[in-house]
Amino acid sequence: MKKIVVLISGNGSNLQAIIEKCHNKEGMRIVAVISNKEGAYGLIRAQKAGIPTWKILSKGVVNRDDYDEQLSACIDKDAPDLIVLAGFMRILTPHFVRHYKGKLLNIHPSLLPKYPGLHTHQRALEAKEKEHGASVHFVTEELDAGPVILQAKVPILQTDNAELLAARVQEQEHKIYPQAVHLFFQGKILLSSENKSE
Ligand code: GAR
Repeated sequence: MKKIVVLISGNGSNLQAIIEKCHNKEGMRIVAVISNKEGAYGLIRAQKAGIPTWKILSKGVVNRDDYDEQLSACIDKDAPDLIVLAGFMRILTPHFVRHYKGKLLNIHPSLLPKYPGLHTHQRALEAKEKEHGASVHFVTEELDAGPVILQAKVPILQTDNAELLAARVQEQEHKIYPQAVHLFFQGKILLSSENKSE
């Protein structure tokens, strides 16, 4: 059984897509969902699917190394094959990222390398982009800069605002993130040590 741990901070709609398309399918199992936020709805989604949940709350923890150490301890007890960041809104320490090298995926709501960081939909609108989208990528030490595995594009419409655009991008996220998890376990994607962003 290939074990997956999913990290979340909020709604967990990407977690839901991965539950539906990967959990207990083709030898894959989500063995834990961990939230850094109290009350994240994704915890309820996980519980409904019978997946163990954990809260490692980041509020009030000032030292990033301390937090990431607690997080690693919680992840490592399941010895997962893959760690999936699904709307996990924290910057991770280089030590943490190195520890999970080659098995840490993230989804980011932009067509990377465009718009790393926050408020991606608003920024794409303000830049009068014609298209926008989402990227699944390997996590490396530089924020939102690891090698891209899959991207999905959506056109930007004249009637769009950040919320409408985010909703259309999310629909695509829910397709490409489970696909990327499948590709990972099929051995079709691999973080190469020649990658310059490592
Ligand atoms: C997703 O849109 C994801 O792309 C974004 O957070 C949202 C989480 O939604 N992630 C980032 O911005 C990471 N920098 P969800 O909790 O419903 O999956």
